[in-house]
Amino acid sequence: MTSSYGLQGRAAVVTGATRGIGHAVARQLAAAGALVCVTARDAGEVRRTAAELGGVGVAGSVAEPDHLRAVVDLALREFGRIDVLVNNAATNLPYGPLMDVDPRAWREAFAVNVEAPLRLVQCAWRAWMGEHGGAVVNVCTEGAAHVGPNIGAYGTSKAALAHLTQQLAGELAPKVRVNSVSPGLVRTEMARFVWEPGEAEVAAGLPLGRIGEPEDVARAVVWLASDAAQWVTGADLLVDGGTRVRAAYAAGPYGVHERLRSHAPDGVDAPELG
Ligand SMILES: NC(=O)c1ccc[n+]([C@@H]2O[C@H](COP(=O)([O-])OP(=O)(O)OC[C@H]3O[C@@H](n4cnc5c(N)ncnc54)[C@H](OP(=O)(O)O)[C@@H]3O)[C@@H](O)[C@H]2O)c1
Repeated sequence: MTSSYGLQGRAAVVTGATRGIGHAVARQLAAAGALVCVTARDAGEVRRTAAELGGVGVAGSVAEPDHLRAVVDLALREFGRIDVLVNNAATNLPYGPLMDVDPRAWREAFAVNVEAPLRLVQCAWRAWMGEHGGAVVNVCTEGAAHVGPNIGAYGTSKAALAHLTQQLAGELAPKVRVNSVSPGLVRTEMARFVWEPGEAEVAAGLPLGRIGEPEDVARAVVWLASDAAQWVTGADLLVDGGTRVRAAYAAGPYGVHERLRSHAPDGVDAPELG
């Protein structure tokens, strides 16, 4: 990164920052001079990441309101400010047709993917941002704009997050800017079951010819969080290698949906092929 984008000395909270996209975001924010507070459930990974980035961290699930309050308290105590919030932690479960979904698992998905981002923004607004301002970036998904096999709970919750982003952008202006980034398929653990079985085939169906790397998404998040985007709020920045425009690029089957039909996340039975 060649510019600090005005992030030098600012304080940022990144949820789900121990691996994948969140880790790349926290690393790029730290490289731009920001003080970072990282979270995830695995305490050892949180300690390791905080030490790696010269920041602080606290372990817990974003589904727990007490954890979110603890995150904001820690960042304020250690840094004296919270300028940036990145709501990145998410779950892609429950997986499968909606008629089979356990309502408790559905509620958990919404607790993690929708309620937690709102609660964290509320905490940060009351503690700092409402008076001093700031920027929020929510990590949604390219898939929130259309339906897909077996990912109804994930897609519905991310569509709600996209709506929440715009609602908050209106409500919190002009003090706080609220935007989202919507990644296509990215090389992370969460999406391994989609990209690993035959990556070349999936990549060939994407206009830009490859799946995404966490850094591709992180650059967009950091830009939206920075002063470079000071007149941007309520926006969704698609970072998808052209996934959304693939119909005009290639006529073949959409490799991602083929994988979603035939594979499942770790610990979930693969769907039966019909
Ligand atoms: N990868 C893709 O293709 C893709 C595409 C579109 C959108 N996205 C979005 O990008 C974001 C990051 O996903 P990723 O692919 O980077 O996932 P990932 O590699 O699996 O990383 C997820 C991170 O979030 C943490 N986490 C998970 N559940 C949590 C919870 N309940 N509370 C707190 N932390 C939690 C994980 O650590 P612990 O397990 O220790 O908690 C980890 O640090 C998500 O919002 C996802 O929906 C990803």
